[in-house]
Amino acid sequence: MIPRPPFRLRCEYLDEPLGVDTTSPRLGWLVESDVRGDSPRWCHVLVSSARELLRSDIGDLWDTDQIPPPEPPGLAYAGEPLQSFARCFWKVRWADREGWPSPWSEPASFVTGSLAPGDWKPRWIAARRVREFRSKGTVLLGHQGDDDTQACAVYLRKEFALQGRIALAMIFVSGLGHCELRLNGDKVGTSVLDPGWTDYRKKALYASHDITALVRDRNAVGIILGNGRHTRAYGYEAPRLTCRIEIEYESGERQILFSDESWKTSAGPLEENGLYFGERYDARILIDGWDRPGFDDGTWENAETVAGYPLVSQMMPPVRVTERLAARSIERFSSGAFLVDFGQNFTGWVRLKVEGPMGTEIRLRHGELLNEDGTLNVGPNENAEATDVYVLRGGGPEVHEPRFTYHGFRYVEVTGFPGTPGPDAFEGAFIHSDVGRTGTFRSSNGLVDAIHRNVVWGQLSNLMSIPTDCPQRDERHGWLGDAHLAAEEAVYNFDMAAFYVKFLDDIRLAQKEDGSLPDVVPPYLPRFYPGDPAWSAAYAALLSLLWDHTGDLRLVSAHYAGLKKYVDYLGRNADRGIVRKLGKYGDWCPPGSVVPKKTPVDLTSTWYYYHDILVLARLAALLGRDDEAREYTQLADSVRTAFNDAFLGETQYAAIRVSPVDDHPNQTSNLLPLYLDMVPGDRKEKVLASLLKSVVVLQDYHLDTGILGTRYLLDVLTRNGQGEVAFRVATQKSYPGWGYMIAEGATTLWERWEKLGGHAMNSQNHIMLGSVDAWFYRVLAGLSPALPGWKKVRVRPHVLGDLTFVEASLETVAGRIRSAWKRTRDVFSLEVRVPVGSTGEVRVPLLGPGARILESGKILWRAGHAVDPVPGIVLAGDDGGSVVFEVGSGAYSFESRPGG
Ligand code: BGC
Repeated sequence: MIPRPPFRLRCEYLDEPLGVDTTSPRLGWLVESDVRGDSPRWCHVLVSSARELLRSDIGDLWDTDQIPPPEPPGLAYAGEPLQSFARCFWKVRWADREGWPSPWSEPASFVTGSLAPGDWKPRWIAARRVREFRSKGTVLLGHQGDDDTQACAVYLRKEFALQGRIALAMIFVSGLGHCELRLNGDKVGTSVLDPGWTDYRKKALYASHDITALVRDRNAVGIILGNGRHTRAYGYEAPRLTCRIEIEYESGERQILFSDESWKTSAGPLEENGLYFGERYDARILIDGWDRPGFDDGTWENAETVAGYPLVSQMMPPVRVTERLAARSIERFSSGAFLVDFGQNFTGWVRLKVEGPMGTEIRLRHGELLNEDGTLNVGPNENAEATDVYVLRGGGPEVHEPRFTYHGFRYVEVTGFPGTPGPDAFEGAFIHSDVGRTGTFRSSNGLVDAIHRNVVWGQLSNLMSIPTDCPQRDERHGWLGDAHLAAEEAVYNFDMAAFYVKFLDDIRLAQKEDGSLPDVVPPYLPRFYPGDPAWSAAYAALLSLLWDHTGDLRLVSAHYAGLKKYVDYLGRNADRGIVRKLGKYGDWCPPGSVVPKKTPVDLTSTWYYYHDILVLARLAALLGRDDEAREYTQLADSVRTAFNDAFLGETQYAAIRVSPVDDHPNQTSNLLPLYLDMVPGDRKEKVLASLLKSVVVLQDYHLDTGILGTRYLLDVLTRNGQGEVAFRVATQKSYPGWGYMIAEGATTLWERWEKLGGHAMNSQNHIMLGSVDAWFYRVLAGLSPALPGWKKVRVRPHVLGDLTFVEASLETVAGRIRSAWKRTRDVFSLEVRVPVGSTGEVRVPLLGPGARILESGKILWRAGHAVDPVPGIVLAGDDGGSVVFEVGSGAYSFESRPGG
């Protein structure tokens, strides 16, 4: 049978990326086969400089001929040296296990960015004069910042003419803080809030756009610049821009235009704008046609050249509007104001549709909650004004949506709206980094599904080119604790690789000479150094997570030295293995508190030191650095001993005591060492008993953990044979628990276990407690990578609580994976799918003594013994309660039946 052609061709984890700025990008693809146990014998890749060449099967840049299939995430390009700013076309074919070659895949392409430092020659420009305004200062870590002076939006334009028939036209642009690119009257592309946030002094991102289909003989580029994070509060001057337009003619000639002082600048209708502040747009300020050729810009000023930043391509999914939400209700107050309810907490803004007299000022205030009297509660916004103002031009219908702000909200209070708003007057735009949805999860338990749903909304709401803590108040920073605690759930649900590749690089760039890392990345404020070890642990945690889910060794090599430097920094700051100085937040936000009430911060700091050493030792071994692997394994041993000496008592680990008679075990203190298997063998049972005493007896099947303990609690319980307890904790409907949030109307996850709504740390949309969703995928559905990059898929479902079915599917770097189980009174069925080139390890539960296991109707196991072997399914062991089979790629349908 002829194999089907490869599909989902990707370059550096992205579909048809523009601006690829590595000289050996990885080319990845998927293959599928109906034959069980299939695996590719070889692959053959062609890369061409022209579409026609590729069509004729000529790889003038690279023709690999038949080579062994690559490891995930793909084949590193090794053809002719790639040129900067050039489009490359490629396709691939493969041969199945029998050696049958497939047809070629559909062609894919990528466009290179600036591949050598001298290739861009950026000139940064800015307006000579900007009007400034003041926005409220941020309160962070207890410090009240000064009011922030920001710039009103800057409009820039430049015309250019073509000199012949073109083959390719590209624009590469970095406009800081944020920019909107327009060409000949229209917005280019679908991204918003470009470019992504970085520490601009280290790197600014440029976005790449293909404008081949948009250019004409005469053209005008228009760019609007907003503040974003490029503000005085973080030490930056006025908004600035660099742009490169690259045109390739059919004749082969190239024309290149750079931003320079000939570009014209002006103020415009978009005035005040700020991430926290909101926007003011005065539509009476008419500059119609400013972004089209022929506009009279005689009154506009020339730009000036200003200092700029190193540039790196934005190789990650941009922020986009991914969904439009209709108002669920619009209510009118006696004051004439309206209250719009979208029925869902989310990030973005409101598109306004209105008709009214010129000069009418409409004001939209955003909030997550309502007061008891039904009015808008802006308490959780803290110092963020979160208010958008639109001033009508008059004379017909007007449609407007903001550009350089976003809000975290469910409700909007609208004042000044003329007349009665129609149902489409207010439309919610959900914006976030547009990472594709790769995971699906469904179960028979409505609460489990509701928690999953809230996590998905909460996670997306907190992907804004960096993982943020929350979207509504004056923070929205890349708090590293929040970032790594929820990261596993993120990689199950979404295509996170390119996003985290960028973020890991942000972390690397944030490292100080002494090796320290901050709490927050990008480190916009200096006081974020040195980080709490539980926060800075994101470097190790994200790296090892990505290694497991992508098998990307290049990433490991790129960060090994940085991680080692950080671990050594912790070592220098440890006192005989115990990290006493660096902890600040520890097991943050446990029930009833912001700061940890019961867990010593030194314990969590030291535990993360141990955690980071283990990751480093693992990565050292991967990279073949055996001496370092040994050295850090020994260091880990000594830290574990020091940890136990310092914190382990007879039956439990140290807790903060409220009185001399308080000897209650603390959940987090006990579960962390259990998670990393640190507890000496003779005390493991006692420590586990202490943990269970707290969970089951003292807290009546509730957690009593902050964000650190919560991340590992369910896993520790499950691994120690207490899956049923874990399930009860995860599905509690009473306080504290995820179900409690839902019972109280949450549509995302809260920051605190408590229902709070005042002007304080009460975010209704934090993601740091989202790890429960990873447990749903990994434990309930049972899916985890047994080898990095899903080369081996572990399928180990847990049949817990009242669950009668669980289904999950994943699109991984290796291909599509699925686990779907169902139980009735006398049958347990499990459907599994393993991608071509991978293998699976499937654990099937036995229904009592004498039970049978069948696969596609054939008996594999009966009454404690293997029966006739089925080709491709190998018995790998049994533990009395379940049987483990090793399988090749393909779809399998197992059934477990009681004996008889
Ligand atoms: C953030 C948290 C963060 C914490 C650090 C808060 O203000 O919102 O999520 O991790 O500070 O303690």
